[in-house]
Amino acid sequence: MLPMASSQVRVKSHEGDESVARMDSVQQAAIDLLGKADLITPMALRVAATLKLVDHLEAGVTDLPGLARVTRSHERPLGKVLDHLVSLGVVERAGERYRVSALGAPLSSRCDHLGVRPMLDVEHLIGKAELAMVDLLHTVRTGAAAYEERGVTLWEDLNAAGGGAPGMDAFRRTAALFDAEAIAEQFDWSQVRDVVDVGGNSGAVAISLLQAHPHLTATVFDLPCFGPAAREAIERAQLADRCEVTSGSFFDGLPPGRDVYLLSAILADWSDEDAVRILRQCRRAAGPTGVVLLAEVHLRADHPDPVHRTAAALRIEASMGHPDRTPADLAELAARAGLRVTWEGRHTPVRSLLALRAETELR
Ligand SMILES: C[S@@+](CC[C@H](N)C(=O)[O-])C[C@H]1O[C@@H](n2cnc3c(N)ncnc32)[C@H](O)[C@@H]1O
Repeated sequence: MLPMASSQVRVKSHEGDESVARMDSVQQAAIDLLGKADLITPMALRVAATLKLVDHLEAGVTDLPGLARVTRSHERPLGKVLDHLVSLGVVERAGERYRVSALGAPLSSRCDHLGVRPMLDVEHLIGKAELAMVDLLHTVRTGAAAYEERGVTLWEDLNAAGGGAPGMDAFRRTAALFDAEAIAEQFDWSQVRDVVDVGGNSGAVAISLLQAHPHLTATVFDLPCFGPAAREAIERAQLADRCEVTSGSFFDGLPPGRDVYLLSAILADWSDEDAVRILRQCRRAAGPTGVVLLAEVHLRADHPDPVHRTAAALRIEASMGHPDRTPADLAELAARAGLRVTWEGRHTPVRSLLALRAETELR
């Protein structure tokens, strides 16, 4: 009888005839593990997405020299990437020409609404966040987001790159707005004149608020890199007369004197200390009469497949430092910032809604 640690596998000899060989099951496990840990295939797909190889193939640039020219790449390594994409079935090769296969089709920019190419494009907001998973060890060692291994947050890094960053819209098409409609529906906006959407990104939440409440005006406040995307989205929604865009860091101060300061999906990215600093800035800007409206997200992995579920849970953990603060945790942070809870919404599985006001005036 074979020992438990061994198994029999069929292998092909060089001549092509099959024979039964014994392979130690640990050796087989080693092969399986390395297959699961492979970084080359994920990175080859990301190179294809970032260089928009499928777009170029669709536009008729189908040979290696042409693809190297239009993507400003080195021909030899690009050829190796294409060879691997052929092995994976993402592109097909006929002589010196390549074409997109059915499997490669979602890598076309025409399919960006599916979120696949933005997720794999290492120069895109979402792709950068995803690539930071290589620093998962940083999260495990420190409890902070993996991206912070680089000494900056994803947002600071995008901002430091200069120019306009794309908004989170590619992400929004693949995932709901985390029950963001609850913000417009549950809070009583009837007496509110103006709201600052603090960390409002490209304005999606502010736009939905303005569409639901035609008497409101809004300011989308975020880092300068998101200004162009926000202005464009607001123009497109024909809301430029009711919505302005202001740039800055919420650690340095906010436009003062507005009725409501909305923090939608902001605090989960920050440590308790930083969250309290952000809340203090909101309190300072809101003064004695303004409201700080917390609409915090709690992300949970609930995929039916266990491997997808545990992977999603890890991704959430490594993407944001604090994805799971309870309403009680948030109230405690608010108290540290001198704010008290004056209203609670119906908490959904992914959102907590809390309205806060200053305990006493800040000096
Ligand atoms: C997770 S997104 C939330 C976007 C939006 N509020 C929503 O609900 O979808 C976090 C936002 O905080 C912004 N942010 C990060 N650091 C910031 C800072 N120091 N000052 C202003 N905004 C900042 C980011 O640019 C990003 O748009």
